Amino acid sequence: MADSIYVSRLVKRYGSFAAVKGISFRVKKGEIFGFLGPNGAGKTTTVHVLTTIINKTSGQAKVAGFDVSKDKEKVRSAIGIVFQDPSLDDRLTGYENLDFHAIIYGIGKDERKKRIADMLEMVELTDSAGKLVEKYSGGMRRRLEIARGLLNKPEVLFLDEPTIGLDAQTRRHILDYIKNLNKKYKLSIFITTHYIEEADYICNRIAIIDHGKIVACDTPQNLKQKLEGDAAIVKLESEESSNKLIAAMKLEKFVKSTRKDGLNLYVYVKEAESAIPKIMSIAYKAGIKVTSVEVHKPSLEDVFIYYTGRTIRDTEAESNERIRGIMRSRMR
Ligand SMILES: Nc1ncnc2c1ncn2[C@@H]1O[C@H](COP(=O)(O)OP(=O)(O)OP(=O)(O)O)[C@@H](O)[C@H]1O
Ligand SMILES: [Mg+2]
Repeated sequence: MADSIYVSRLVKRYGSFAAVKGISFRVKKGEIFGFLGPNGAGKTTTVHVLTTIINKTSGQAKVAGFDVSKDKEKVRSAIGIVFQDPSLDDRLTGYENLDFHAIIYGIGKDERKKRIADMLEMVELTDSAGKLVEKYSGGMRRRLEIARGLLNKPEVLFLDEPTIGLDAQTRRHILDYIKNLNKKYKLSIFITTHYIEEADYICNRIAIIDHGKIVACDTPQNLKQKLEGDAAIVKLESEESSNKLIAAMKLEKFVKSTRKDGLNLYVYVKEAESAIPKIMSIAYKAGIKVTSVEVHKPSLEDVFIYYTGRTIRDTEAESNERIRGIMRSRMR
């Protein structure tokens, strides 16, 4: 069986800057495959190459069995896309937005009516179909964009940060639609996100992308298990802020990296048994009272830190401004 997506040594340069630096991966039919990475990692660039919006610089890429450079039209008719940036027409109703899109795809009148009704039903927008999109909430807009991406009955659906800027409950809602779609239609899904728990929740396999390179690719389960084999994570709980302790830890060779979460401090080491006494002695010398110590099971967040050297949240401050920008333009 052919892969839904096949990518080999793909490179995309903007002038002299390489945004994608020779990535390779395959997405099987019916799989939900996630691209997890911080801002500027190259996620959207990859989506744009795979959906024929921009040309690759080198390497090979096939979607639904068709070459993205040689068979653009065939690729386009086999895919649906939900863009990172909003792309609905606010001055039209939900129904009109879908109808317009279906006309572009050359879908006949009767078929259009039927498909639009089905899609509206699926994303629970039937009752709001006659409303102008400018009156829609952020979550409704995203659902309409998903419905639109499905009108041509694609084999592969691309979702570029489908939940960015939405509240937690709406995000979960959208993820559940995506899961259902995948199950019901055996649809292959390529989704990008920088929400770790989202990737963990929805994806069969995840590629972690950083600075244009895939640094790890596997099932969420395997990624966590592999980390367990490679690194031990010691979790310390303290009654006071552990900034001082982190500073002291960072000077130590046996510490690979650290992560702070409230009053918890996670220390990544090669092996817990010998590290714990050293960590305790450093804490004691720094005058910090540690209330509990345990060996912590790796989460996907830990996997991310291990491979990229930082938390995805480190990159969020800069992204918040951009998200606000997107939301502003979505609300206009
Ligand atoms: N048209 C362009 N010209 C020049 N550089 C670009 C262009 N588009 C993107 N880049 C750069 O390429 C890199 C990857 O961008 P890309 O949009 O693919 O990242 P991303 O992973 O989607 O990030 P985000 O999470 O912010 O959406 C970034 O450094 C970006 O500034
Ligand atoms: Mg992007």
